[in-house]
Amino acid sequence: MQLPTKLDTRRSHKLIQFFLKRSEKWSKENRDFSIYWSTSHMTTTAQTMRLLAVLRGLDPEFCAIAGAIHDIATMESGKAENHAERALDFLEPLVHEFNQEYEKHKITNAEIARLKEIIPQHSDKAVVSNDPYVEILKDADAIDRYLHGVETKEAEMPRLEKALSELGMEKRE
Ligand SMILES: [Fe+2]
Repeated sequence: MQLPTKLDTRRSHKLIQFFLKRSEKWSKENRDFSIYWSTSHMTTTAQTMRLLAVLRGLDPEFCAIAGAIHDIATMESGKAENHAERALDFLEPLVHEFNQEYEKHKITNAEIARLKEIIPQHSDKAVVSNDPYVEILKDADAIDRYLHGVETKEAEMPRLEKALSELGMEKRE
């Protein structure tokens, strides 16, 4: 593996800062997950995406952006039901707001189009896609939830085990 000496993480960090600022205005009432959980998961999924992207030869910064924003519907609405599909209600307007605020760190229209393809699929973890960017988001989400102590569904264990084995974490009998 050819490792770059430095990853360019500026846009994903700005995007995380953008949502941390927004989180101060999210209602604390009637949330399926706490704001603490949502903002932690946003940050650490971005980092897990960078790690897997370097390992798989994918674009680490685009992956980190997808990881940071993948639960945008849960973060913004407080409700988790159908949140993968409902990301489409939030994605475009909020990325445009981000682009206005962080002019030098814009997320491109081509990237927005890819995010709209990838993110709505991320909850179907038992389904394996041919798109490596769909797969990496499902894997990073599964690893991140697991490391935060969330129970993994039986149907999603093969994905989790395969992804963890890439990181040298093998299943113990
Ligand atoms: Fe997630």
